[in-house]
Amino acid sequence: MKYGYFDNANREYVITRPDTPAPWTNYLGTEKFCTVISHNAGGYSFYDSPEYHRVTKFRPNASFDRPGHYVYLRDDESGDYWSISWQPVAKSLEEAKYEIRHGLSYSKFRCEYSGITATKTLFVPKGEDAEIWDIVLRNTGETPRTISAFSFVEFSFSHIASDNQNHQMSLYSAGTEYHQGVIEYDLYYNTDEFEGFYYLASTFDPDSYDGQRDRFLGPYRDESNPIAVVNGQCSDSVQTCYNHCGSLHKQFVIQPGEEVRFAFILGLGKGNGTRLRHKYQNPAEVDAAFAAIRHHWDKRCSRFQVTTPNEGLDTMINTWTLYQAETCVVWSRFASFIEVGGRTGLGYRDTAQDAMAVPHSNPEMTRKRIIDLLRGQVKAGYGLHLFDPDWFDPDKADVKPSKSPTVVPTPSDDDKIHGIEDTCSDDHLWLVPTICRYVMETGETSFFDEEIPYADGGNATVYQHMKAALDFTEQYVGATGIAKGLRADWNDCLNLGGGESSMVAFLHYWAITEFIELAKFLNRPEDVAHYQTMADKVRCACEQHLWDEEGGWYIRGITRNGEKVGTSQQAEGKVHLESNTWAVVSGTVSEERGRKAMDAVDEYLYSGFGLHLNAPAFTQPNDDIGFVTRVYPGVKENGAIFSHPNPWAWVAEAKLGRGNQAMKFYDALNPYNQNDDIETRISEPYSYVQFVMGRDHQDHGRANHPWLTGTSGWAYIAATNHILGVRLSFDGLVIDPCIPTEWPGFEVSREWRGCRYNISVKNPDNVSRGIKTITLNGQEINGAIPPQPAGSDNEVIVIMGE
Ligand code: GLC
Repeated sequence: MKYGYFDNANREYVITRPDTPAPWTNYLGTEKFCTVISHNAGGYSFYDSPEYHRVTKFRPNASFDRPGHYVYLRDDESGDYWSISWQPVAKSLEEAKYEIRHGLSYSKFRCEYSGITATKTLFVPKGEDAEIWDIVLRNTGETPRTISAFSFVEFSFSHIASDNQNHQMSLYSAGTEYHQGVIEYDLYYNTDEFEGFYYLASTFDPDSYDGQRDRFLGPYRDESNPIAVVNGQCSDSVQTCYNHCGSLHKQFVIQPGEEVRFAFILGLGKGNGTRLRHKYQNPAEVDAAFAAIRHHWDKRCSRFQVTTPNEGLDTMINTWTLYQAETCVVWSRFASFIEVGGRTGLGYRDTAQDAMAVPHSNPEMTRKRIIDLLRGQVKAGYGLHLFDPDWFDPDKADVKPSKSPTVVPTPSDDDKIHGIEDTCSDDHLWLVPTICRYVMETGETSFFDEEIPYADGGNATVYQHMKAALDFTEQYVGATGIAKGLRADWNDCLNLGGGESSMVAFLHYWAITEFIELAKFLNRPEDVAHYQTMADKVRCACEQHLWDEEGGWYIRGITRNGEKVGTSQQAEGKVHLESNTWAVVSGTVSEERGRKAMDAVDEYLYSGFGLHLNAPAFTQPNDDIGFVTRVYPGVKENGAIFSHPNPWAWVAEAKLGRGNQAMKFYDALNPYNQNDDIETRISEPYSYVQFVMGRDHQDHGRANHPWLTGTSGWAYIAATNHILGVRLSFDGLVIDPCIPTEWPGFEVSREWRGCRYNISVKNPDNVSRGIKTITLNGQEINGAIPPQPAGSDNEVIVIMGE
C-alpha cells in the first residue's frame, strides 16, 4: 500500500493519503529557528537548542502527534468546521481531500472541503527567528461563503524541554498579552526580551483572540473540537498564569472564485511580532522569503547531481539523502519525534561522521563541527563522548550565565571532562578522515596549522590533534595488539572494556593511512615513515588474530576473558557487519579474505530490507560482550537491520570491484523502494531510519527512528564517492566508479571550488569497474583531475572498460 509519491522536479514528497501508519516528519528552518513538523501539522519549534529554548509544546510518545501548528476553518453559516491539515479535526477522507507536500525546509498542506480549497505553507524565512504560515483560501463554489479562520499553537510551558512535563513554576510566572494582531507570551515574568519572549501574530486585524489554552479548547475537549472554533469566536482571553496558546481569529466573506491570502507568524523577541506582521502584509515579501528557501537548497543540491538508470538512487542522492545528512550535521541527534530535545550534546562519533558527508554542500557547518570536535578532544587524544559545544566555545563563555531566567546551566569542569572509563574507542578516529575531506574540498590547507585548544587545556594545531587521535589508539591495545574496546566502539551496546575490538583496529588502520596521505601531501617524511610503521603493525595484528579460518570471515572482537566474539564456533552473534565491512573498507586485509568476508555478509546478513548487523541474534545475556545481549532479538544492535553500517558494505563491495553486489545492498536499504510497501515499513519513505526490525522480530521490515541517523551521511558518501566513484584526493578529482554491469553509464554534475565538472561516464563493455580513458575538455588525462580555473565549466568524458 502507498500513501504518496516523490515529485522530483519540485524536490517534494507528496502525501495523498494523510492516514499514514505513523506521522511523517519534516524539518523547517535553515538557521537557528527550527520546527519539526509532521504531515498532520503536529510538532514543535525551538530556537537554537530544543533542550533549552522550546517555543511550542509537544507531547512525545503519545498516540497522536499533538499539539501542533494548526489552522481551523469554520463555515459561519452552517457551523461546520475543519482543519487545513487532516489532523486534528480529521474530517472523513470520503468528504475531504488532503495533500501534503514535504519539501526542503518547508511543508505545504492543502485541503479541499465543502467548496473551499485551503493551503497552508509553513517555512522559516532566512534572517528571521520566526515561522511563517502562508494561508490561501479559495472559494471554488458558486455562492459567497462566510469563513472564519483560527490559528492555534500551544506555547511551551518552560524554555527547558523536560520542564514541559513536570515543572510548575511557569504556571505562576508566565503570561500572555494581546497587542493589535499579536499575542505576546512572556515565559517568565519580566523575562529576557528575546529568548524568553514568544509571539503569534497575524497579518490581518483579528476579530477575536485567545492566549489562554483552556479558554480556547474548553474543558474536557482537545485540539479536535476546540470550543472557540465550535462557537465561531474566541473569548479574548489573555492573562498571567496557567497554560498559554496563540489563537487569532478572523471572519472572511469570500466570493465565488475569489481568493483571500493572509499569514500567521510564530516567533521570538519582543516587538518582532508587530514588525513582521507589517512586513508580511505584503504578499510579495512572503513570496520572496519562500523563494530564498528554495534557492538555498537548489544551490546546495546542485553541487552534486546525478542521472543514472536507477531512479531511486537519483531521487535520494539528488535531494533526500543530502537533505537528511545536512539535518543531522545541524541537529545531531537532538530533535525529532523520537529524540525530543532532552539531550543536546554532540555525540562525538556521530558528528564526526555526519560532517564527513557535507563539505561540498555546507563547508561552513562542516568546519564549525570539526572545530567543535577538536575543542572536545582531550590532550590524551580521545574525544568527549557527549558534550555541548558551547562549553568550549570562547564566544559563548561571556554570554553565560545570562541575567535571563532562561539560563542554560553550565556544568563544572569535572562534569564536562570524563575519564578513560567513559571513553569510546572509536570516537576520535573518525575525525581524521573528516578533516582531510574538508580540506580536499575547500583547499584550505592552512587549517592544519590552526591552533585549537584541547578540552582539558593546552593548544595544539589541527595536525597535532590528528596525531593525538592516532597515538591514543596505538597506546590502548590489548594483549594481542588489537585496539581495546573500552566503554564501547561504534556499537554502543558492545561493551568489551579491556577486551579488544576488531572494528576499531580496522578503523585505526584506515585513519592512519588517510593521515599518511596527508603527511605526504604536506611533505612531512618523518611522519610518513612513523605512521607507516604504525599502520604495518596494526595490519599484522589484524591478519594474525582476527581471521576466522573455518568460517571465512573476520571476528568482531575478543572479550576481557579472551573469548572471541563472532566466530564459526558460536551459536549466536556468529557473523557481524561492522568487522567484515571495515576489514575491506579500511584496506587492511587481502583481497582474497575481503571477498570471502563480504560473501559471508551476503550469506548470513542479507535480507530484502537491508543487511542485519549481526546474526543470529543473541538470546543469552553475557555482560562480557555487553548490553547487546540484553536487547530483544531482532531489535536495534541485537540483530536488527541497523542502517548506518549498511553503506559500509556498499563501499566494501565497490572496493572489491563488485558493482552488482554494491547495488543489491544499496537497493535493499533504499526507503524509496519501500514506498509501495508502507504497511510493512511504517516510517516515511524519504528518510533512512536508525534500524529496521530484523528477521528475529515479528515486525521484520518495520523501520524505526527516522531522520537522525548516521545512515544518511554514509549512504551519501558510499553512493557518490564509491559507487559513482566521484571523490576527492589531495591531488584532485578522482573518477573511479563501481557500478552494476548492466548500467550503460551515468552522468554527474559536480561543483568543486567554484567550477563545474559535467562528467559523462560510458560503460560500453558492461564492466563493473575499470577506466579505459578520461578526457577533460577533449584532452586525455591520467589520474586525478587537478582543480580548474575558478568559474570554468568542464566536460569530462570517462570510458569504462577492462
Ligand atoms: C546510535 C548512536 C551511534 C551508535 C549507533 C550504534 O545510532 O547514535 O553513536 O554508533 O547507535 O550503536
